[in-house]
Amino acid sequence: MGKGVTLWFTGLSGAGKSTISGIVAKKLQEIGRNVEVLDGDEVRLNLSAGLSFSKADRDTNVRRIGYVCRLLSRNGVIAISAAISPYRNTREELRANIIDFLEIFVDCPLDVCIERDVKGLYAKALKGEIPAFTGVSDPYEAPANPDLTILTNTESKDESANRVVQLLYERGYL
Ligand code: PPS
Repeated sequence: MGKGVTLWFTGLSGAGKSTISGIVAKKLQEIGRNVEVLDGDEVRLNLSAGLSFSKADRDTNVRRIGYVCRLLSRNGVIAISAAISPYRNTREELRANIIDFLEIFVDCPLDVCIERDVKGLYAKALKGEIPAFTGVSDPYEAPANPDLTILTNTESKDESANRVVQLLYERGYL
């Protein structure tokens, strides 16, 4: 079994966190690693059911995911979080608490996310129908020093995923 690590994806809704983390997970499983993806939407149906999108509840959500990632990654699993996790300080808190922690900034301009609007949520948020929507009416604090930035607007999905896998090789996790 290889060394566990937490891969913490952060970025706007629609930036590509779930897509890229899914591809990365598949690539890692193909080379025999144990992987768990904690996806924002799915966590909110289970571990964080009932939480809102207030700052306090987002922080609680992120800390819960961080806690699970810590347990998994210290047992050899590659734990992948794919939640917006909009607050820099909260992510830094996780970095301090999780020994093997890599922050991946899924960078995509807001106007491109709005254009993509995969779930139709930006249209609603821009009409004021969803309060406190990240990037529209709620903050997103981009990482100051991420371990890796992937540019989903200009790279192909496979290219972005390969760069994440490459980072794991460079840091000695593969
Ligand atoms: S957070 O900030 O980390 O707690 O957010 P997360 O748990 O990842 O949940 C983000 C997904 O919830 C949907 N959604 C919203 N996002 C942002 N702001 C508001 N107000 C909101 N309401 C619902 C949205 O589909 C997000 O999905 P992703 O996968 O990020 O597109």
